[in-house]
Amino acid sequence: MDTEKKWDQIYTNGGHIGEPLQTLVQYRYLLPSSGKALDLACGTGANAICLAQHGLSVDAWDISGVALKDLGELATKTRLAINVKQLDIVPDSIPDKHYDDIIVSRFLDRSLSAAISASLRTGGMLFYQTFTREKVTNHGPGNARFLLAPNELPNLFPELRILVYHDEGATGDTSLGLRDQSLLIAQKN
Ligand SMILES: C[S@@+](CC[C@H](N)C(=O)[O-])C[C@H]1O[C@@H](n2cnc3c(N)ncnc32)[C@H](O)[C@@H]1O
Repeated sequence: MDTEKKWDQIYTNGGHIGEPLQTLVQYRYLLPSSGKALDLACGTGANAICLAQHGLSVDAWDISGVALKDLGELATKTRLAINVKQLDIVPDSIPDKHYDDIIVSRFLDRSLSAAISASLRTGGMLFYQTFTREKVTNHGPGNARFLLAPNELPNLFPELRILVYHDEGATGDTSLGLRDQSLLIAQKN
């Protein structure tokens, strides 16, 4: 099954609908409160809504039309500044020096990382959180291709300045902290 059909089916069955990342709410104060943002592979857009409520004008992109349908309707109804676009995201989809903030949540396509960096304006922020190989539960993908290796996330964005990085693996009391996922908040200088 192709990627679009796979995700449409997941969303049709009610999967992956949710709240914004807890860490986005926690660290939102680091992000600009005006300008242009991209929620890349946004799904049903809880993070895009959070950023639009924060004051950003948000492009919300995903391959799944099913995921985007409700988000588009909500944006129209609430007049939130969210522009949805359905596409199979490739490096050329992402414009150079265009965004003040890019968020990627629970999605990993390493071939996009250079284009993501290039798309940030000077001072622009990257907020990237996704699953790791050192998961302590079975949440998230099983295929290692979609999982971060230890220390991998900052290495995908070497030219950005790291402001926050969590990569706690299975160290210490695994009932506490940010587990299963790694978080990078980094800035283009
Ligand atoms: C696990 S979901 C995460 C959704 C959202 N970012 C979140 O954290 O709730 C992964 C998303 O990636 C999207 N996706 C997968 N491959 C894609 C591609 N090639 N282009 C655009 N979106 C894609 C899927 O449709 C799905 O919505």
